[in-house]
Amino acid sequence: MTHDRDAHAPGGDGPASGAAADPARRWRELAPETVLLDGFHALKHALRFGARVPLALTEDRPGALALAADLAPDLTATLDALLEPVPSGTLARLVPRPHPTGVAALAVRASGQAAALRADGPRTAPLVVLDDPRHLGNIGAVIRVAAGCGAAGVLTTGTVDPWHPNVLRAGAGLHFATAVERRTVAGLPAGPLYALDPDGADLRTRTLPDDALLAFGSERRGLSPELRARADHIVALPMRPQVSSYNLATSVAITLYHWLAQTPPA
Ligand SMILES: C[S@@+](CC[C@H](N)C(=O)[O-])C[C@H]1O[C@@H](n2cnc3c(N)ncnc32)[C@H](O)[C@@H]1O
Repeated sequence: MTHDRDAHAPGGDGPASGAAADPARRWRELAPETVLLDGFHALKHALRFGARVPLALTEDRPGALALAADLAPDLTATLDALLEPVPSGTLARLVPRPHPTGVAALAVRASGQAAALRADGPRTAPLVVLDDPRHLGNIGAVIRVAAGCGAAGVLTTGTVDPWHPNVLRAGAGLHFATAVERRTVAGLPAGPLYALDPDGADLRTRTLPDDALLAFGSERRGLSPELRARADHIVALPMRPQVSSYNLATSVAITLYHWLAQTPPA
């Protein structure tokens, strides 16, 4: 975990001069260049994994600090310095759907270069590849489980931006805990590619190498021909007869658990 307190301090990323007294105005200035952390939990995760947060607002500072004391004692001092109180109703003017915790923050999107280094460097954990995923909530859920399982990253092909605000919302701020990037199939990193498809070989008969790419098809159409052509192995998750497929995020979770369960805990 990297954790640069100065970067998190209010004003640490340099709000426009003369605007320091007006958090809403600073929000509007920063918003186009940053990503929304929606709610206390997203902010907590992002800070833990080194996100740079130039602005964090709360309509309930005592409540947010109580949550911090309860759920994130490692961050109480950081949040105390960072959270700026705003009057009730302010967040409704700044974000599409204010979070019940009354917290919203803006973070600097992890640099493509840093994420690429993590995705392309030598890997000791698999990379998840989503082939043209369509559902923003699914992508966020995949990033969340990938971060939790210690995957090297989540790469997506196709047109959807994996940093879309709704993906960030579903990912609970865990974009900062792993590498998240869009790639073409041709631009995927090297490594043995295991493509998941119900017609493949039973995954239970395979050991997944730590540097594997684990590729999953889109919700509607499954794996694209390009991705199939790049695959070294096609593997299937066991299902009882007459069930057609699992949900995309569920498939990723089962597969990553299979990889995790290969190695007994230390
Ligand atoms: C919702 S499924 C796609 C269903 C799609 N109608 C199809 O024809 O493949 C999304 C992705 O999850 C993965 N998946 C779902 N169930 C699976 C299973 N039993 N075995 C392997 N992969 C599975 C595959 O990668 C699939 O492309």
